[in-house]
Amino acid sequence: MKIGVLGSGVVGQVLADGLLKHGHEVMRGSRDPAKLQAWRTGAGPRAQAGSFVDAAAYGPLVVLAVKGSAAVAAVEACGKALAGKVVLDTTNPIAEAPPVNGVLQFFTGPGDSLLERLQARVPAAHFVKAFSCVGNALMIDPRLPGGPPTMFICGNDEGAKRQAATLVEQLGWEIEDLGAAEAARAIEPLCMLWCIPGFRQNRWGHAFKLLRAP
Ligand SMILES: NC(=O)c1ccc[n+]([C@@H]2O[C@H](COP(=O)([O-])OP(=O)(O)OC[C@H]3O[C@@H](n4cnc5c(N)ncnc54)[C@H](OP(=O)(O)O)[C@@H]3O)[C@@H](O)[C@H]2O)c1
Repeated sequence: MKIGVLGSGVVGQVLADGLLKHGHEVMRGSRDPAKLQAWRTGAGPRAQAGSFVDAAAYGPLVVLAVKGSAAVAAVEACGKALAGKVVLDTTNPIAEAPPVNGVLQFFTGPGDSLLERLQARVPAAHFVKAFSCVGNALMIDPRLPGGPPTMFICGNDEGAKRQAATLVEQLGWEIEDLGAAEAARAIEPLCMLWCIPGFRQNRWGHAFKLLRAP
C-alpha cells in the first residue's frame, strides 16, 4: 500500500522504516522536506519525501506523527488532501509544562481528546487512534514475553478501523477496538501511564496487553 507519513521526528522515522520493511511504499512529509533527504536516500527506492500536503495526498492511508500541539494546524494545512483518507493518529496532547512526579501534563481535559479535535477540524478524514501509548522503540514487531501486545484503537469509521487494524496487526500487534472517537479520552492518557516507569526509573521497555478471559 502507498502510505503517507506526516512527521520528521523519531516516530515518523520508525513507522516509515517499519512500513518499508513490511513491503509498503512510503512518503514522509515535513514543513521542510529537505531535512528528510538523507533518510530518503538511505531508505531505498520505495521511499519518498515531500511536504505535509504531498504526503497526505500520496496514498489511501496517512500516519499522523507530529507534535501534539501542532497536530490541528498540520491537518488543517493538509485540507482536502486528507478527504476520504484513513489517518492513523499517533499524537499525544502533551503540554509544554514539565511532568509532575513523572506524570505528563496534557493540554486536553476530561471529556476531550486530541483525536476528537482533529476529527472535528477535518470531518472528511477518518481518524483512527493508534501507537500513541507505546514508545517508538517497540512500535514495530515488538518482542515481549506473553506474545503480541495490545494496540487500543478507536475512531468513527468502521471501514477505516478495519484497514488500520490490518496494518497494525501486520506490524506485530493484536487489536482491541474500543469504539468511536470518544474512546480516545481513555486511550490518550495511557501515554501518561506508559511514561511513568520511564521518568521515575528509566524503564521504557514495556507495552500494554489486555488479558482476556477465555
Ligand atoms: N516519541 C515517542 O516514542 C512517541 C510514542 C508515541 C507517540 N508519540 C507521539 O508522536 C508524535 C510525534 O512524536 P516525535 O517524537 O516523533 O516528534 P515531535 O518532535 O513530537 O514532532 C515532530 C513533528 O512535528 C512537526 N511540528 C512541530 N511543530 C510544528 C508546527 N508548529 N506546525 C506543524 N508541524 C510541527 C514537525 O514538523 P517539521 O517536520 O516541519 O519540523 C515534525 O514533523 C507526538 O505527538 C508524540 O506525542 C511519540
